[in-house]
Amino acid sequence: MKFDMFEFNKFAGAILFTVLIGFGVAELSGILIDGDGHQETVAYPVPDIPESGAVAVVEDVPAVSLATLLANASAADGEKAFRKCAACHGVDEGGPNKVGPNLYGVLNNDIGSHAGFAYSADLAEIPGNWTYDALNAFLTKPKDFAAGTKMAFAGIKKDVERASLILYLRAQGDADAALPAEE
Ligand code: HEC
Repeated sequence: MKFDMFEFNKFAGAILFTVLIGFGVAELSGILIDGDGHQETVAYPVPDIPESGAVAVVEDVPAVSLATLLANASAADGEKAFRKCAACHGVDEGGPNKVGPNLYGVLNNDIGSHAGFAYSADLAEIPGNWTYDALNAFLTKPKDFAAGTKMAFAGIKKDVERASLILYLRAQGDADAALPAEE
């Protein structure tokens, strides 16, 4: 039988096509759309994806700005997340200090200034107010913000969760405070 190059090419092409489709499906199955319309990665980890869940799956994703996170976060979610804080902090106006200071009106207030609370020297020495950025930095990793802080808490890794918490704190005393403008 004569070797038919045309038939061979068709056959080879079909195999190549099948392999490519296989890769494509494997690639796509790594991306699922959840109920909120957010894309989430599953199946295999991709490094350095922000945990907000609201970004597409590509490498070197630029961090989502705090302004955008705040615009999309919810104080109600923050209230739930505040359970992690409630053992040490109250938020009622005029409420008592616990292990940590009462946090009513903390947004935009002087850092380390709540009446009757004995702050660590490291936190008390930090100048300025609890801006959105300052709260975000402190809650990410308290010891990076003030090395000798007395707040024995590792921090909140999820960007969205921190933003929700900050919105919840804002609602306790300073609910009309202007939010940072989105770029
Ligand atoms: C184990 C107890 C504990 C937990 C849990 C805790 N904190 Fe604190 N927090 C403290 C203490 C103690 C301080 C005072 C820190 C210092 O003086 O260095 C503090 C300080 C703060 C301050 C600065 C207040 C001011 O008046 O300047 C903020 C804001 C704050 N905490 C928010 C939170 C939030 C939000 C959570 C939950 C995600 C949380 N904390 C969880 C104990 C705690």
